[in-house]
Amino acid sequence: GHIFREAVRISFNELDGLNAVVVIYKNGEIVAFRRGSPLVAGAGVSGNFISSDIPALISETQNIVFIDEDEGVAIDKEKILKVNAKTSKVALAKPQKVTMDEAEVDKAGFPHFLLKEIYEQPEVIARVANYGKDEIDKAVGLIKKAWGTYFTACGTASYAGLAATYMFSEIAKRHVNFAVGSEFPYFEDFLVPRSLLIAASQSGETMDTLEAVRAAKRHRSKVLAMVNVPGSSLTRLADKTLYLKAGPERAVLSTKSYIAKLSLFLLFAFGLAGNYQKGVRLLKNSSRKMSSMFKDGLGKDIKRLAKKLENQKHIYVIGRGVNYATALEGALKIKEASYVHAEGVAGGELKHGPIALIEKGTPCIAIVANDRAKESVLSNAMELKSRGGYIVGISPKKESVFDFWIKVPDAGAASPIVSVVPMQLLGYDLPLLKGYNPDK
Ligand code: F6R
Repeated sequence: GHIFREAVRISFNELDGLNAVVVIYKNGEIVAFRRGSPLVAGAGVSGNFISSDIPALISETQNIVFIDEDEGVAIDKEKILKVNAKTSKVALAKPQKVTMDEAEVDKAGFPHFLLKEIYEQPEVIARVANYGKDEIDKAVGLIKKAWGTYFTACGTASYAGLAATYMFSEIAKRHVNFAVGSEFPYFEDFLVPRSLLIAASQSGETMDTLEAVRAAKRHRSKVLAMVNVPGSSLTRLADKTLYLKAGPERAVLSTKSYIAKLSLFLLFAFGLAGNYQKGVRLLKNSSRKMSSMFKDGLGKDIKRLAKKLENQKHIYVIGRGVNYATALEGALKIKEASYVHAEGVAGGELKHGPIALIEKGTPCIAIVANDRAKESVLSNAMELKSRGGYIVGISPKKESVFDFWIKVPDAGAASPIVSVVPMQLLGYDLPLLKGYNPDK
């Protein structure tokens, strides 16, 4: 009842830090509050539920109660009340219907979520291609109006942002600024109310990204969010949200949401250039090309490569231009679940230090797209080879410098979308060989 609710609320307000707190009373009543950590409630037929995430609830109910910052819920069998943590104001919660297919949250016959999510990517690209011009135009309009556009995100999402700076330059002839979430607040002095911050996040809960957004809001700048998880904290802070529509991402390695972000950024860039339809065509093509990569046995090639790399302690990945971002993301995919040191390097930077680390047999992966960086990155691969490096080429064409060739289609401006896939698969196969769970 009322006293229990108030006791939890007052105690919650005493806590420091970022919390989601759930307290159960002996009569079964539940009171929960959140500040900085995710929390949602679900209104079901057999009862009411609480969780940090929607997928955990979806087998019970699609009627979700989103809980804001400094807000909570009081739950019993019959009803869900919303409680304001600061004022103690109480109101009956209104659940929202979330359309998340139950089949989407299980492994759909794949041995791991990671593999399932990698193989879903062609579908994700096609979904973004069908986003609709109106929504893309709204985002493009915000960018056009802004006095300065900034991208921020963390980890994999940040590499999508880095790739986007190249796409905007090449396709839209437009300058954008980029900083990872944890560094962004150090740039906040530039911000004015007409600045635009574009924040990208799969979960919509990454603290450093949220802090960057809060920095922008301190200056009353506009915030556009690109988010995968509906109703997440980032969507609540943003002025406008475009969903990634990638479906639940359950593996710890981020894959399909990265592809969705790259796809959406491409549409923004083509939209800015007044060439929206060209962007849509490019994406539809890339979706088809990625499907054929899987059909043509990419999975087998990567298993062979993984065997060769299994006992290596250091792996280098090089790229240039937009695929410098691919190199960074590829290295991250190798690090995370395989616990192998992998480093992404801009091809031109090799001579400024990293080349010293290349020994006989050191695996070096070169991302070579059919673009203006091609010749330079191939000559960087040559430099690595002359130091004894074992050169793995990810490229549409077999080049003489490669010791091992992974074929990817020529996807034009969408090359980062197809070129990252072999390294995602490596991020799956390496942990398997080493006896780790690739999903964790
Ligand atoms: C990489 C990975 C992390 C996330 C990062 C940001 O595979 O999972 O680097 O990309 O923590 O997460 P979101 O996109 O949820 O903000």
